[in-house]
Amino acid sequence: MKIKALLFIIFIVALGCATIKQNNTAQDELYSLKCTSCHRLYPVGLYAYKELLNYTHKYGRGLTADERSRLLGYFKANAKQK
Ligand code: HEC
Repeated sequence: MKIKALLFIIFIVALGCATIKQNNTAQDELYSLKCTSCHRLYPVGLYAYKELLNYTHKYGRGLTADERSRLLGYFKANAKQK
């Protein structure tokens, strides 16, 4: 029973990964993975880094410290330049 459940989960995860665009970076994937459970993926370039930082603190509670810093690094590099 447990093995079957595990295989099923692996299958679903593999399926999800296959649909992610090949040229995306790991940070892109992290963003689409962690930030689309409630809404579509907002284009990072439309927002200032500070806004993205606020949203990450507001909605990114499930992130580990490592994920958070990777995500914020990605936002910093791609956010709207003032
Ligand atoms: C628990 C649900 C949830 C998750 C997870 C979530 N968001 Fe959101 N997000 C919302 C809601 C609700 C709004 C609209 C209300 C608001 O502005 O706070 C929103 C709004 C936004 C907006 C503004 C969109 C606009 O109106 O222009 C941005 C940017 C954003 N989220 C980024 C993120 C990022 C980055 C993450 C991942 C760290 C994330 N969200 C994860 C619920 C979520």
